Amino acid sequence: MKALKRTIAAVAGLAMMAGLAACGGDRTSSGATDEKIEEGATVGISMPTKSEERWNKDGNNLKANLEKKGYKVILSFADDKPAQQNADIENMVNNDAKIVVVAAKDGTAVGPAVEKARDAGAKVIAYDRLIMNTEAVDYYATFQLEQVGVLEANYIIDTLGLKDGEKGPFNIELFTGSPDDNNAKYFFKGAWELLQPYFESGVLVSPSNHGGGIDKDSTVDGNWQKISVMSWKTEQAQKDMESILDSTYSHGEKLDAVLSPYDGISQGVINAIQTKRPDMVPGTDTWPVITGQDAMEIAIKNISDGTQAQTVFKDVNKLATAVEEMIVEIAEGKEVSGINGEFNNDKIDVPSKLLDPVSITKDNLSDLVDAGYVTQEKFDQLTGK
Ligand code: GAL
Repeated sequence: MKALKRTIAAVAGLAMMAGLAACGGDRTSSGATDEKIEEGATVGISMPTKSEERWNKDGNNLKANLEKKGYKVILSFADDKPAQQNADIENMVNNDAKIVVVAAKDGTAVGPAVEKARDAGAKVIAYDRLIMNTEAVDYYATFQLEQVGVLEANYIIDTLGLKDGEKGPFNIELFTGSPDDNNAKYFFKGAWELLQPYFESGVLVSPSNHGGGIDKDSTVDGNWQKISVMSWKTEQAQKDMESILDSTYSHGEKLDAVLSPYDGISQGVINAIQTKRPDMVPGTDTWPVITGQDAMEIAIKNISDGTQAQTVFKDVNKLATAVEEMIVEIAEGKEVSGINGEFNNDKIDVPSKLLDPVSITKDNLSDLVDAGYVTQEKFDQLTGK
């Protein structure tokens, strides 16, 4: 908490300094500027892929919000290809986009494209995923990244009764997200800081050699990419989980939990278990605790069926509103409000707006309907009502 307060104070200080710098006409400043963007200007939105549910929602929500405000919007999806995303961003700049909003496929590979956008005078907003290793990022809007991992790890800790003194040892397997996505590291960091002490005391063990193995000496920086799933793909997660089951759980061994950072990965894990270990039965003690993230439709179904225990809900409607507010403030030459943190992208500290993620289980699954994230009709269909 102290660190957060320090961060807020530092960012507020930065914003003030930037505000002063802006008076001198410094375009790279993060505060108010006298350069306004004309009404009806073009905003580019570059999403990483259409093949994952959330980016469609994210892109379309933001586009609709901005069009209501009178902006022209170019929305592109990059098919998980960094070169495609860079071409998409170049196209936005060629069409005179004054602001580009980018959810990077590859946080580092997208650097040169946003640098060109910046050189052409556009402001750059990193959307959900940070753009790495460049100065050409003005703002970042996302959710409290480590908190996602905290919610997942705490769910496992609570369900296994670790705080109540259960000694196990419990078998857990761990996965992280895409190795080219900076978010994946932070999700794991939040989780690992809570799980590591239980590895230290021997209550949790990860018996497979997945990614070279995870033990009490593993570290976030040293290990997160080794247990990653390229492009967050279900198929890759399934393959990896199948080899874990073949190597380590093929003689009836118990698997107590799987730390999964994304519902698509959880689905791969579930597929693998159902293929390789039909004796594990959802809803009984034989089935592992499986976490997730994004509250995808498939996760609503899986949580309702009891194959997945938990997901982390990040309300993309709120993220779209937060970014829309940023865009309007930038366009009006005002200081961007609501900055409550900063993230270092290996070059600069990027002023960030961080929203709160929420843990979802069977008990509060219908909150997703109340939040307007899924319709009642779809929810009923997914939960078999
Ligand atoms: C991350 C994002 C997650 C999830 C994942 C897979 O960058 O923060 O919410 O969507 O990508 O798309």
